[in-house]
Amino acid sequence: VTAIDGLGYSILVETDALARLATLVRAHAPAHRYAIVTDENVARHYLTRVEEALATAAANASGVADRVHSVVIPAGEEHKTREQWARITDTLLAHGCARDTTIVALGGGVIGDLAGFVAATYMRGVPVVQIPTTLLAMVDASVGGKTAVDTPAGKNTVGAFHPPALVVIDPATLATLPARELRAGLAEIIKHGVIANAEELDRVSSLAPLLIARAAPYADLESLIERSVRIKAKVVATDEREHGLRKVLNFGHTIGHGVEAASDYTLLHGEAIAVGMIAEARLAEQMKIADAGTAAAIERVVKAVGLPSRMPGGISPERVLELMQSDKKRRRGMLEYALPLRVGAMAGEQSAWGIPVPDAVTLEALHRAH
Ligand code: NAD
Ligand code: GLY
Repeated sequence: VTAIDGLGYSILVETDALARLATLVRAHAPAHRYAIVTDENVARHYLTRVEEALATAAANASGVADRVHSVVIPAGEEHKTREQWARITDTLLAHGCARDTTIVALGGGVIGDLAGFVAATYMRGVPVVQIPTTLLAMVDASVGGKTAVDTPAGKNTVGAFHPPALVVIDPATLATLPARELRAGLAEIIKHGVIANAEELDRVSSLAPLLIARAAPYADLESLIERSVRIKAKVVATDEREHGLRKVLNFGHTIGHGVEAASDYTLLHGEAIAVGMIAEARLAEQMKIADAGTAAAIERVVKAVGLPSRMPGGISPERVLELMQSDKKRRRGMLEYALPLRVGAMAGEQSAWGIPVPDAVTLEALHRAH
């Protein structure tokens, strides 16, 4: 087992950790009651096991029957809403869950963000244990305490910082994750490589085919996840509330979110981020911020993994730019970007890690991303 500390909570990376969940939760996040939030896909594979483990963790002489509640919601980003937040909250209230309840987010980033936001607000805040079951949630969404729901005004427009009490990463759960979702998770691993460790891009390129073929040794998968989480954890430990350095984690996301929305969410988050990273690196080269070749290096690994490197036909750059205008990083009428100096290092130390870019320059980069 690898424990990543430094954030005030433990992040455990361990193949078959779910088999030891009762012990792990009792040691790191003891509670009187547990409320599991998950989606229909994940419930099918893992809910019974997690319910049993939590019943054991909560057990005492008075019996366990009413100590574990589960709320299962439909799968998909379209359910990361205030309506589901209300439904989950109302279910917990109906069960009589009080401040002695710990919420357990079992699923991908949608569940992590939504259940995390329920935990942030329930009774003014109760603990949350994150059990990510997608690669993306393992290396990114479950770590760092950002929680949110989407609104018609945009993604993640209502939320809170609510760091978890514990993160349990069991790479064995990836066995049931569709290949397309696995690839999407690799996009965030590539992002962490661009931010802080150039060698990661080569490692991802060589491991990806094995990973997608479900032939990668668990030891390799564990260390891939662990290295990626360490990069994120180090950034978050320095700047949890995103006043500065944490902005680097948004690399690829400013354009990526616009592309994701313009695709009407037919592109997965990670797929849109892959396109966004290449476009933003190109933007950085155009502005003489990044070394020549930075975008090409990112494009090589994106293609090696089988992620899209360009915007799908039918999406206009103007539409992407329009959809980017609701970005939370908009300041003084210009969008602010996290841009690389080169693969492995980010620019912007002098400007709190955010670099304003005129829309006309963005538009040019978007035209070249077709
Ligand atoms: P997701 O949660 O929708 O999961 C993807 C799909 O995989 C879903 O259909 C889900 O039911 C299914 N699934 C999950 N685990 C499975 C498993 N082990 N086996 C079979 N099927 C499984 O999507 P995601 O990519 O995990 O997360 C995307 C979300 O994460 C977005 O809403 C994004 O905004 C958010 N996010 C948050 C942060 C953060 O810091 N809080 C960071 C990155 C992304
Ligand atoms: N995913 C960006 C962040 O956690 O800050």
